[in-house]
Amino acid sequence: MRRVGIVSSGSTVLDAGVILAGGEERNVKAEDLVLIRNRNGNRIMAVCRGGLGSNENLRTSNYSPGVAYARVGRHPSNAKEFYAFGLSVIGDASEGVLKENKMLIAPSSEVEIFEEHDNPMSILGDTGSTIGYYKDHPSWRVPINPNYICYHMGVFASTGAGKSLLTRYEIIPFIRAAGYKVLIFDWKGSDYAPYFKCRYEVADLGLEDDVVVDYLCSVMDYFGYYQSSMIERNPIRAALETVIYEGKWRDCGDAEKLRCFLKDNVLLELERENMDEKTGKVGYWARNYMKKFEKCITKLSADDLRNVLGKTTAAEILEVAKREDVVVVDLGVGNKEEKLSIFLSVAKYLCQLMERKEQLDLALIIDEGPQYCPFMPKGIENQTTEVISELCALGRSYRLSVVLLSQGIAGEIGINAAIRRNLNTQFIGKLNPLDLMEAMRLLGQADIDEKYLVLMPVGDFYVTGKMNGSPIPLLIHFDLPEVKAEVGDEG
Ligand SMILES: Nc1ncnc2c1ncn2[C@@H]1O[C@H](COP(=O)(O)OP(=O)(O)O)[C@@H](O)[C@H]1O
Ligand SMILES: [Mg+2]
Repeated sequence: MRRVGIVSSGSTVLDAGVILAGGEERNVKAEDLVLIRNRNGNRIMAVCRGGLGSNENLRTSNYSPGVAYARVGRHPSNAKEFYAFGLSVIGDASEGVLKENKMLIAPSSEVEIFEEHDNPMSILGDTGSTIGYYKDHPSWRVPINPNYICYHMGVFASTGAGKSLLTRYEIIPFIRAAGYKVLIFDWKGSDYAPYFKCRYEVADLGLEDDVVVDYLCSVMDYFGYYQSSMIERNPIRAALETVIYEGKWRDCGDAEKLRCFLKDNVLLELERENMDEKTGKVGYWARNYMKKFEKCITKLSADDLRNVLGKTTAAEILEVAKREDVVVVDLGVGNKEEKLSIFLSVAKYLCQLMERKEQLDLALIIDEGPQYCPFMPKGIENQTTEVISELCALGRSYRLSVVLLSQGIAGEIGINAAIRRNLNTQFIGKLNPLDLMEAMRLLGQADIDEKYLVLMPVGDFYVTGKMNGSPIPLLIHFDLPEVKAEVGDEG
């Protein structure tokens, strides 16, 4: 430890300032960790934030000799110059483990900085599990509490800030070390699928009956209905439902056979349902429905049809996940409805298992979160949003963790508020300025400068929430393995 200054006036239980000893302004940086040797008796761990450089001779509120010097290009005396940092209290570290600080911090208490070799991370709790390292200190791995994995996680940062890589290199190994299996939904098919051995593609996967109905309706543009009540309930959909639920369509070996089968059987069903019992004829409206369906089904592409013919079930995927530790569902090809339908099949199955009170020991990684549960869900997004919310609620009891990645937190660029509330631990990286308000709400009153949140470098994340040993957000960083290897080569 090295003494860097003393506490300034105006300290409280949770906040203080440090006036830096001469020259320390060149060493002490924002986010550095310090120990306050409180004259009132305890030792308090805190983090430097904010910060101020002051020279009374250089105030610009009125004209002064200092200002006059500046005007003629000279420097006034720096006798009245000092530097200070704000200190956000992490907690009472008197006994080597972190406790809530309840003591008032005495002005003029000594402040010491943690140097590289006095690793302060053990004070934050020795959980045996870590994610990343404390900013600028590669040897200080940050302890993260795995007991709260099923209180769910959110990873928020604008595109390119390192969310997917943080998840791949740090969060997934952390979750696995805690004994969970991992099921990844790779929306783009490029972030995870190439890096894990066990993966499924869109056309491999079997869908549940109602998901098939939803999917087929959506690729047939809901038969031209646009009112939400008619999208959900209309005679064509009802007929399709009957045919799909009967299940014989699953024996159609290829797309064209399926097209014929559906066309014949749905038309038959529409005719049967709408036949006048007395006259034995179908009315004008029924003929209209039949015409509509006939047109829609010829417009379906072979790929659309092939996508419902996959055979792998959610149950099989989970069986494989139990053996293989990590399974990736590669959603790289296909349209949005298909991708969401597949997710929905698996998610619904997981809900069923939990309703049967099965412990899952599973983490779901959902990258590109706004695709699944946007701010204002539409169509099938309503169902995916709802099911994610259900997964979160049940997951806490049955060891299912949801890890959601998103480029925005709230509002139009963010994720649905109902889901957001369920993500207890948050990793927040470089943000879009539109999201500052929400981020500041999450990061609380921890003196984090909101200007910094839009400037954060790639790979930096504030971690906040139950999994963080500190009650205030901490700044972590992670390196890509290639970078580590290069350093090793040089050595
Ligand atoms: N910790 C890091 N250090 C250096 N570069 C990084 C780091 N994390 C990410 N990157 C770079 O940023 C790019 C985007 O990362 P990615 O995780 O795909 O971002 P996101 O998922 O947030 O869009 C990567 O291709 C990589 O080159
Ligand atoms: Mg990404």
